[in-house]
Amino acid sequence: MTSTATKPRGARARAAIAAKTLRTDRWWFAPLITVVGLSAWVAYATVRVFMHKWYWVDQYHYLTPFYSPCVTDRCVEGSSHFGTLLPGWWIIPDAALTLPFLLLFRLTCYYYRKAYYRSFWLSPPACAVPDGHKSYSGETRFPLLGQNLHRYFFYAAAIISLINTWDAVLAFHSPEGFGFGLGNIVLLVNVVMLWAYTISCHSCRHIIGGRLKHFSAHPVRYRAWTFVSKLNTRHMQLAWITLGTLAFTDFYVMAIAAGWFTDLRFIN
Ligand code: FES
Repeated sequence: MTSTATKPRGARARAAIAAKTLRTDRWWFAPLITVVGLSAWVAYATVRVFMHKWYWVDQYHYLTPFYSPCVTDRCVEGSSHFGTLLPGWWIIPDAALTLPFLLLFRLTCYYYRKAYYRSFWLSPPACAVPDGHKSYSGETRFPLLGQNLHRYFFYAAAIISLINTWDAVLAFHSPEGFGFGLGNIVLLVNVVMLWAYTISCHSCRHIIGGRLKHFSAHPVRYRAWTFVSKLNTRHMQLAWITLGTLAFTDFYVMAIAAGWFTDLRFIN
């Protein structure tokens, strides 16, 4: 792709067709549903992050992923597994050390880039549909140049997935000791899906299998790369599924913490 020209060098001018596009199918549906889905999720997450309540169920040690790890001095007793380093001002999210990295990890994700370039920026909205902008500079200038930092946000996301895993382990708790309820299943499913999304990352695939000249000399990395490659083909689905599991897990913990309903317990 060219960096500054409006069209690739040597490319021919668009055919002189009066219509904006000759496509007659519902090409606009995918961008539209993406705008609706992402906007709804961001609105829900923003409200929840700044709500500063109903994120911890002390009885069962359920902690919503939106508040993990809870690091402000406003965090309710028992919810801080890694200390309270930050002041409890309302503008500071209780998980201020992790949320910015998670946001940047998703924002720079290869799939989400495609999704919001097409839907929010109309650049272009679909194949064979004109770009919504006159010029095209790719990702060669600030701020889009920062998309190249994705591989580093991957490392941060992997650490945060470890923290979420630890939260899910600590949640096997009840006032009597060990406990197991529907909330544990919700937390576990969310963590498994988060790992699947994180591992299916294109950067992860490159870290594991990239720069190798001969797979035969690296059988373990080849197996890992093969596994990640299979997951990678589902990266888009995992991107959406994890938005769903994150929101559902948060809502479930909120509902239990607020007393809207009680957790279904299997053991203790
Ligand atoms: S490409 Fe989507 S998380 Fe890395």
